[in-house]
Amino acid sequence: DEGDEGTPWQEQANWETEQIKKASMKTGAKDSQAKAKDYEFVFEDQIDFITDQAMAGTLEVDDEEDPRERERKARAAEKQSKQEKLQADRKLLPMYPFREPLLEAIAEHQVLIIVGETGSGKTTQIPQYLHEAGYSKAGKIGCTQPRRVAAMSVAARVAEEVDVKLGQEVGYSIRFEDCTSDKTILKYMTDGMLLREFLGEPDLASYSVMMVDEAHERTLHTDVLFGLVKDIARFRPDIKLLISSATLDAEKFSDYFDHAPIFRIPGRRYPVDIMYTKAPEANYLHAAVVTALQVHVTQPAGDVLIFLTGQEEIEAAEELLKQRTKGLGSRIGELMIAPIYANLPSDLQSKIFEVTPPGARKIVLATNIAETSLTIDGIKYVIDPGFVKQNSYNPRSGMESLVVTPVSQASANQRAGRAGRTSPGKCFRLYTAWSYQNELDENTVPEIQRTNLGNVVLMLKSLGINDLMGFDFMDPPPTETLLRALEQLYALGALNDRGELTKLGRRMAEFPLDPMLAKMIINSETYGCSEEVATVAAMVSTGNSIFYRPKDKAVHADNAHNNFHRGSPGDHIALMNVFNGWADTNFSTQWCYENFVQMRSMKRARDIRDQVLGLMERVEVAVISDRSNEENIKKAIASGFFYHTAKLAKSGADYRTVKNPQTVHVHPQSGLIEVRPKWVIYHELVQTSKEFMRTISEIKPSWLTEIAPHYYSKREVEDAADKKLPKGQGKAGLDGAA
Ligand code: CDP
Ligand code: MG
Repeated sequence: DEGDEGTPWQEQANWETEQIKKASMKTGAKDSQAKAKDYEFVFEDQIDFITDQAMAGTLEVDDEEDPRERERKARAAEKQSKQEKLQADRKLLPMYPFREPLLEAIAEHQVLIIVGETGSGKTTQIPQYLHEAGYSKAGKIGCTQPRRVAAMSVAARVAEEVDVKLGQEVGYSIRFEDCTSDKTILKYMTDGMLLREFLGEPDLASYSVMMVDEAHERTLHTDVLFGLVKDIARFRPDIKLLISSATLDAEKFSDYFDHAPIFRIPGRRYPVDIMYTKAPEANYLHAAVVTALQVHVTQPAGDVLIFLTGQEEIEAAEELLKQRTKGLGSRIGELMIAPIYANLPSDLQSKIFEVTPPGARKIVLATNIAETSLTIDGIKYVIDPGFVKQNSYNPRSGMESLVVTPVSQASANQRAGRAGRTSPGKCFRLYTAWSYQNELDENTVPEIQRTNLGNVVLMLKSLGINDLMGFDFMDPPPTETLLRALEQLYALGALNDRGELTKLGRRMAEFPLDPMLAKMIINSETYGCSEEVATVAAMVSTGNSIFYRPKDKAVHADNAHNNFHRGSPGDHIALMNVFNGWADTNFSTQWCYENFVQMRSMKRARDIRDQVLGLMERVEVAVISDRSNEENIKKAIASGFFYHTAKLAKSGADYRTVKNPQTVHVHPQSGLIEVRPKWVIYHELVQTSKEFMRTISEIKPSWLTEIAPHYYSKREVEDAADKKLPKGQGKAGLDGAA
């Protein structure tokens, strides 16, 4: 049985807490005594760490400045006004002494590779230096970030330093959110957004400088940008190109950019003691929480940074931390828990930068975003379970999923380095030294080699780049992956049989969405339900969980959620019902509360929906509404997602994908978990303990030959339709309506 999230550790975590509750109840009613007992429970499960001096040695780099001297300077600065302090802080960054030489190097060379330790001030300072040096007179200064949280947070910081309102002279642009204006001269944006800008401005004419930042992250979009900006540099001698990175492996970047010079900013790093567990940890989430609490009560002041793989884990860790410290009151110092992940609402993101009051300790629960993109001052202890959520793609089967995988050694070293930025620190690795040496890869595989390229190929095709095999990739994607993307775009009708962009393909490229979603939206017009389909597209694109299920009100929440599944079952329609229910009450907060729906996710869905409707207008998709025709809505969805089809296995136990058969399962959160229809389409696959289909709708197999006759043969679909299900199963929904 798979717990409600499909994540086994959650159950264990709960079990764990149950034990503690029972045990502390046993210890008696007398509060004072009970407290002492509680206290013991927190540390009862000590985790054994061993130090690896040799490893610690590799991280040691001379520090040039006495920490006390730094502190004195910082204290003096506090007395000044906030703006003066900000300006003083800028001068304390390792970057600052290199301001002049850097500007000289930029003046001299068109392309420059910049390498500097994380936190040295590359992202926040270099664009400002360029602005101060007058580059913004000739055009905008752009700076790309692989992560949207980083783009937002860095822009906010720089706006503060420049002393302007965010969105004016300093702004950011991320998917579904443009926080810039005509005045914007320093523009931070995700790498994906710059890629989109190429569609409207193929020579980046409005920019005088483009900084491709965090190049070491090697995200798919950054890798594609490399090829595009390299090309631009050739015919725009006036543009400056900066490639900045935190790794030492800058030669590779230099080689790729025709041997561009490398500018190195010497790092300031304090020694970090690295600890490994003596034996592997079965439950890293639990181990991370226990370790954090051990640090809290045994170690000197300094904040803690825990690397987790995603929102669900972060929320679980937060809850676990709160449970385990409940009732301890003043026996332990105050804990400030600060989560940070991609979908955290922006107003809550700044919490990680709040200064920790004396006596308290901040515990930052972060995804990989804190590895290099964001620098949080004051971190002295890093807890690294050694995992990251990555996409993985099998071009042979076309299966794409998010998988929790072990980090690379390079990544583990970056994480450890976060503990030694402002003083010596400690890093607790929740894996063995043997495992580090023998089981972790040396470097992370660039994303371009492990992801579906459908979106990027569509974009490159719309930029007029037809020969993708000949595109100048730093590390080319597997040929099979490129072919698969071309084939999928052909099946969707975005490319013709010569591989050229069709009119449909051009319209699809306008949407900053997966080609399957774009196709479904454009096609929805012919099914007379484009407004509903826009709603579905927005709801699946929020990236957040829509439903809220507090443990103490689980039954109420489940009842409320089941209401959205009335009628023909399917998660897509249920999501639409949620949105419509909310919209019908004039977007009421109370309604969200009563229906256990996350208000924030809904607001995001509303924003995305507005943008999708705007784009539909732009590519002339008429907005037609027909809420009641659920069959047509599902057909429209299937017209984009016919690739993602699965049918119930003969045994009735699990599903098989229709093309390239693979075993997949219904996600435990799906409304179809008990219905188990015979044929389904799914939005995506996620791999946790098993391969799960998430967001599922029932379809009729005959639709497949109707919608995608070039892709499905009658035989494939009829064969399976003939097979009868065991009695009492799968009768719900559409079977009778055929
Ligand atoms: O890009 P790099 O890693 O070299 O450094 P950065 O992101 O420019 O960070 C320089 C400094 O700005 C660090 O001390 C950060 O803590 C600070 N910063 C901040 O306080 N708030 C932000 N939102 C971003 C950076
Ligand atoms: Mg940076």
